[in-house]
Amino acid sequence: MSKFKTVYTCKNCGYTSYQWVGQCPDCSEWNSFVEDVVSVKDSKSSLNNSKSAISGKPIKLSSVSSVPPKRVSSGIGEFDRVLGGGFVPGQVVLLAGEPGIGKSTILTEISKNLKDVNVLYVCGEESADQIKIRTTRMGYEAENLLILSETSAETISNTIEQNKDIGLVIVDSIQTIFSEELLGAPGSLVQVRGCTQLLTNTAKKVGIPMVLVGHVTKEGVVAGPKVLEHIVDTVLYLEGDSQHLFRILRTSKNRFGAVSEVGIFEMGEGGIKEVKNPSELFLKQRLTNAAGSCVTVVMEGYRPLLFEIQALTVKTSFGYPRRTASGFSNTRLQVLIAILERRAGLNLSSYDVYLSVAGGFKVSEYAVDLAVCLAIASSIKDKPVKGNVAAFGECGLNGEIRKVPHQEKRINEAKKLGYENVINSDSAKNIFEAIQSSLNQ
Ligand code: TYD
Ligand code: MG
Repeated sequence: MSKFKTVYTCKNCGYTSYQWVGQCPDCSEWNSFVEDVVSVKDSKSSLNNSKSAISGKPIKLSSVSSVPPKRVSSGIGEFDRVLGGGFVPGQVVLLAGEPGIGKSTILTEISKNLKDVNVLYVCGEESADQIKIRTTRMGYEAENLLILSETSAETISNTIEQNKDIGLVIVDSIQTIFSEELLGAPGSLVQVRGCTQLLTNTAKKVGIPMVLVGHVTKEGVVAGPKVLEHIVDTVLYLEGDSQHLFRILRTSKNRFGAVSEVGIFEMGEGGIKEVKNPSELFLKQRLTNAAGSCVTVVMEGYRPLLFEIQALTVKTSFGYPRRTASGFSNTRLQVLIAILERRAGLNLSSYDVYLSVAGGFKVSEYAVDLAVCLAIASSIKDKPVKGNVAAFGECGLNGEIRKVPHQEKRINEAKKLGYENVINSDSAKNIFEAIQSSLNQ
């Protein structure tokens, strides 16, 4: 017989413990443990079970025929790219992101593009009226959109099984879905995990792709998508800054395609649109011939993207110089300033340094180091970086420029957009040389 036992589960990584702990021993997140219930079998019954269990039949892998899955396009090129070519029948996709980032908007855009496919939109969060406002705003007639205002997991499951003409199911959001069979309030770990399992089974049974929306908040999230990652086939994160228009869609797990793929979108008045040539768009507003700006190439997954790094140096008005970075690590900025002072002979000790990645993006690659150094050097010398220069490379503490992965890909992308003079570890030995060759004299 099964018994229930209370355990504590980390909502960030899924680690379980029999006692509540303040900091997760696995992922080091603070205050992330929530009460959870698991069923445990008593030793007597498990012994009986093991006696009555039948043995399985292993099969030879070579006898399994490999047919590539038949994919259904989402109608948006950038979304298909992150899925690995489109939806696979029965695939369950978790679309996670902070509230208000544009998850519902992107899914409405997909429904709009899938004109000939009936889409079942299960709304647990918004009313049908609110969805109507959104579709009208996006200029979408919504002939193929079926709305189901329901939060019961069993009812949703039955509806999917009985409506044979549905081609895609969207559940917005999984945190609002509730099963009477399970303990806990909607949104609790037990409920979210149980409902995901139930809906996943239904999607597999009927062979319809399903997208589950999952909210992630920095604070107060009851069940983070991390706990659901092993149940679903694909996990996508929609990221961005609500003050900026760009959104990045990343894959963190995909059973049907490559991870590390990214799709770029732009939020607008009439909905969310894919960005086909992101590098071109990111550099559109760049002022040519302005001091304190350098173009760099960042790898987002397997995709090279061009970004503009901006730096501003101003005389310190207080005793201690300020160093502030947005979209880049402050600590790394301090290190690079030290390298510039010591290895390139720039006197920055009485200057405040402000650094920013134009467009509100965050970059964490060391490959950006060189462009950061060149932008700062350009600002302090008040000499613009040459118009056809793009730079990437890691800066070592001795001022040397180090190789970074995917050099060829980065160079090709820069050249494609007219940046013929690509400064990297092959073209400049050290930071001093790089500054000499890239600044207008
Ligand atoms: P939404 O998709 O509702 O976010 P989520 O489902 O992730 O919580 O998007 C909310 C924001 O998007 C909201 O602030 C308004 C904005 N928005 C646009 O800028 N353009 C549009 O066409 C739509 C529908 C929304
Ligand atoms: Mg929403």
